[in-house]
Amino acid sequence: MASSLNSPAVIKAQAFNRIPCEVDLKDLKENKKLFSDEQVAAIIEAHRNGQIKLGRTTKEDLNKILKTNNINLPDVQFSIECDENNTISGIYKGVKHDKQIGEGEFGSVKHLQDIQTGVWVDVLKVMKDSDSIESEVYILRRNQQLKGYSTRINSKGMERGEIAMPRAEGISLYKFLRSGKKMPVARWLDLGIAMLEAYETMHQEYQTLHCDIKPENMNYDPISGKVTPVDHGNSAVVKNVTLGREFCQPRGTRGYMAPESNEKGFYYNEKTEVYGLGQSLKEVFNNAQITKRS
Ligand SMILES: Nc1ncnc2c1ncn2[C@@H]1O[C@H](COP(=O)(O)OP(=O)(O)OP(=O)(O)O)[C@@H](O)[C@H]1O
Ligand SMILES: [Mg+2]
Repeated sequence: MASSLNSPAVIKAQAFNRIPCEVDLKDLKENKKLFSDEQVAAIIEAHRNGQIKLGRTTKEDLNKILKTNNINLPDVQFSIECDENNTISGIYKGVKHDKQIGEGEFGSVKHLQDIQTGVWVDVLKVMKDSDSIESEVYILRRNQQLKGYSTRINSKGMERGEIAMPRAEGISLYKFLRSGKKMPVARWLDLGIAMLEAYETMHQEYQTLHCDIKPENMNYDPISGKVTPVDHGNSAVVKNVTLGREFCQPRGTRGYMAPESNEKGFYYNEKTEVYGLGQSLKEVFNNAQITKRS
């Protein structure tokens, strides 16, 4: 017997927030949040009582604050951050390049979840030192993407630069290319075009040279097809990118740096970016196997 299309829907569509792929689902509670409803209520209450202050509260300190209420915190490593608008975010100890963060080589990127709504709002980039923070802060602020930054001394007495910024859609293009995902050739071509457009926007609209173009430094959302450049640690603003004479220090990542970077009298400009883009496009089209005929 055919089931009636008029019967009440048995499957209810549930709109839920997209969870970043770096977040391990077993680290989340049933409500898809880092904290259970009971824990969230206890944290909000402690904030109302003035026990949780503006800025960072570590898991250890939060444990001490909530101990009197017999609230057990999750096993996962985290801290919480309260901003000027009294929004409290859980900082999740994320995964970078498929490794747990801990001590990364250059720094680490962590995900922030609004503990009340459960929405993954921003990311927090924690750098190994505070030297490289300036250019990234400058570019993000200029592009109206800076959510906050600070330098702080960590528990080991080392100075770290920290920058909060919007979470780019999708996943690292580097990871996507290595995931072995199959797509029709036309989608790979669309991806290539989206890459070119993303950097053209950076050049034309934001007057910014990225200076470290490679698949690790762009996110790709296979659903929307959007490409977003990330990592502005090397980026530079130029007054007029079509001038063609900008700055002369070679910069970028070996393998993606234009060969002319090593030449005498070299000036970095938007044309220099084409090499890194070309190398990245080569990786994309290798995946698409466009040249393979059988
Ligand atoms: N705004 C963002 N939204 C989402 N993911 C991001 C964002 N910024 C960085 N990431 C992810 O984190 C990874 C590391 O960040 P980033 O490249 O900025 O750090 P890094 O210190 O330059 O590290 P590395 O030089 O080893 O790439 C990126 O490859 C990207 O996958
Ligand atoms: Mg990077």
